[in-house]
Amino acid sequence: KHVVHLSAECYPVAKVGGLGDVVGALPRYLQRAGFRVWVVMPWYNKPFVREHDFEVTYTGHFRQGSRQLEVQIHKERRNLLGFELYLIKIPGLIDRDEPYGYADESEQFMAFQHGFLHWITDAGIKPDVVHCHDHHTGLIPFLMYHSERFSALREVPTVGTVHNGQYQGWMEWNKAILLPPFDTWKWGLLDWDGVINPLGALIKCCTAYTTVSEGYLNELMIQANGLERLFEMERAKGVGIVNGIDPSVWDPEHDPMLEHRYGAGDVQYGKERNKVSLCERFGLDTAKPLLAYIGRFAGEKGADILPQIIENIMGGGDVGLNMMILGSGDTQMEEEITHLAEKYPEKVAVHIGYQEELSHRIYAAADFLIMPSRVEPCGLNQLYSMRYGTIPIVRATGGLKDTVLDMDEPQGYGILFPEASADDAVQAVYRALELYAQRRRMEQLREQLMALDFSWDKSAAKYIEIYQNIIA
Ligand code: ADP
Ligand code: GLC
Repeated sequence: KHVVHLSAECYPVAKVGGLGDVVGALPRYLQRAGFRVWVVMPWYNKPFVREHDFEVTYTGHFRQGSRQLEVQIHKERRNLLGFELYLIKIPGLIDRDEPYGYADESEQFMAFQHGFLHWITDAGIKPDVVHCHDHHTGLIPFLMYHSERFSALREVPTVGTVHNGQYQGWMEWNKAILLPPFDTWKWGLLDWDGVINPLGALIKCCTAYTTVSEGYLNELMIQANGLERLFEMERAKGVGIVNGIDPSVWDPEHDPMLEHRYGAGDVQYGKERNKVSLCERFGLDTAKPLLAYIGRFAGEKGADILPQIIENIMGGGDVGLNMMILGSGDTQMEEEITHLAEKYPEKVAVHIGYQEELSHRIYAAADFLIMPSRVEPCGLNQLYSMRYGTIPIVRATGGLKDTVLDMDEPQGYGILFPEASADDAVQAVYRALELYAQRRRMEQLREQLMALDFSWDKSAAKYIEIYQNIIA
């Protein structure tokens, strides 16, 4: 059976966050399970694309409003990623350096989706399932089912996966003329609160949808940036499937990005050596416990409360803790955090930017990783940190609550805190410091964390079950 995944990101071609990690891994597991899997994504001016072998397998033309566009399909020749990778290039729109952040983003994603449908219908390709990730690909099921032009795809079932319900791709209705002609009686499927809502259209039109954890599936009915009622109405076709981790990228025993590799058997020594390297590089005290934060500086992630957490802990004398922060995003948050690193140079280190290699080194070096998220559909950082023997300190929400069990529970292994507030986070950090003082318990927890199974196999099996149901 032939399954096509559509996504704006796919690691290692282009990654901004967890979406890239998931679309870089899940399709390989599906391919191994016997499906023929394609990943179709926008073309980017990125090292992976420049350095690998692509061939143009299709060229065609379509109109977007008054603009005539050319669509080119660039296929990666060797299936290096364990599935077939296709990049859609549309000169003038889909030919940029980065996935997001351009003023004409709506035109870009409309062209990507239209270009995909134009290509497969023109080339006579009819997949068994079309699987759309997030709002960037959310209009596809609507167009498959309600545009005469793509009527060849009317019977093809679709899956939508919500990685992040905060972003929905809203567009004013005057943009509708840029879409391929569709059955205007069905306009209501595109609309939510007076604007075109691609994520909403995805949920309404897809055959089945998934969210990246079970907790998040339920939370969306309460908190979904305006779509709560829709998620409630469509609940019957929703399934929560937690993300896995890809051991070919995330395994401290074989990770080429680490200076010192280690397994469960030598986790204490291995982490110690990585910590010494990292602390020396950033001028931190190697003898103190190290608390890390990695991630986008955004309200969703609770990055705005990091400065208060730092002040509360570092401001009141020496509590014997160092912090390492890696991230970027909101400029005010970047400035505040940089300022605190300057204020407490021996205790707080910051790297502003996106650095894949440094992230691996921090997961390996840190004793604890904090995630004060307001919203967390799944979260991969806590899974990676656990895989690297680092104890997660997380706000009890969404996928964090589903994957981290508090150490006070039987068989527990992490630290949870109730609210995304500096007070709750700081209390949780003090619990971590108490734990750190009990050497044996720390060691035992690290070993326990490294033995946890967050592999993709179980989750991929759940996606397969959905495919089998909707194909039949
Ligand atoms: P989200 O997708 O919401 O940002 P996830 O926890 O699902 O959150 O995934 C984040 C991914 O991005 C992880 O792989 C994490 O290591 C990575 N990441 C986030 N910020 C950075 C950064 N500044 N440098 C390197 N990797 C980062
Ligand atoms: C989104 C979510 C994150 C999730 C990731 C991958 O970016 O914010 O929680 O892990 O998608 O599904």
